[in-house]
Amino acid sequence: MGAGGVLDDPLHDLLAAQLPERPPRVRELEDEAARARFPIVGPLVGRLLETTARAVGAARVLELGSGFGYSAYWFSRALGEGSSLVWTDASAENEARARSLRDAEFPHVAVTFLRGDALEVAAPLEGPFDVVFCDVDKHEYPAALELARAKARVGGAIVFDNVLWARRVLPGGDDGSAATAGVLGLLAALRSASDLATSIVPVRDGVSVSIKLR
Ligand SMILES: C[S@@+](CC[C@H](N)C(=O)[O-])C[C@H]1O[C@@H](n2cnc3c(N)ncnc32)[C@H](O)[C@@H]1O
Repeated sequence: MGAGGVLDDPLHDLLAAQLPERPPRVRELEDEAARARFPIVGPLVGRLLETTARAVGAARVLELGSGFGYSAYWFSRALGEGSSLVWTDASAENEARARSLRDAEFPHVAVTFLRGDALEVAAPLEGPFDVVFCDVDKHEYPAALELARAKARVGGAIVFDNVLWARRVLPGGDDGSAATAGVLGLLAALRSASDLATSIVPVRDGVSVSIKLR
């Protein structure tokens, strides 16, 4: 998605102006990701992750698809003493980068690095987690929802990025790909999930925030 995401650019600019200050090193990561075309969540979604984690009083966060740790930075802003975050990603390069960027600002957040297929490496983890954030390949979204459901605590949050999928979820927008089928499958599952209270927030490429009710 472009910087404007699903919103008109003037609105995007206004929302961006509402963001809190972040350190230059974090802005540099954003610039670097843009240059490398690496799809980080970006600051608007990052702030939503932080706010969600704060809202549920998170102490344990599980990320599925962590990249070099940009989304983890935003979660870390919400995490206090004795908290933890599980990083998962398939890429050795991302793991090396995430380890090297391990944020000195948040020494109190214990980070566990699990490299491999996120759904596989997270499956044996003992829950419950206060937040499960899903940002893996989109064809895996329905399976990721099942895992997140199993790992999240009652009252905790399950969050998915890219749920508006650059408008390919609109009638007539389906490109027939497995990724689009995955996002459509997730939206259908969220619609019919009586155990989840879900809102879709149309920032950037769309984020679903679900609270696990039981
Ligand atoms: C869209 S990027 C987002 C990274 C991170 N959440 C952020 O915003 O900073 C998704 C990441 O998930 C990883 N990924 C996608 N599917 C995966 C899977 N099934 N298992 C492990 N990693 C996966 C990719 O390597 C990539 O680094």
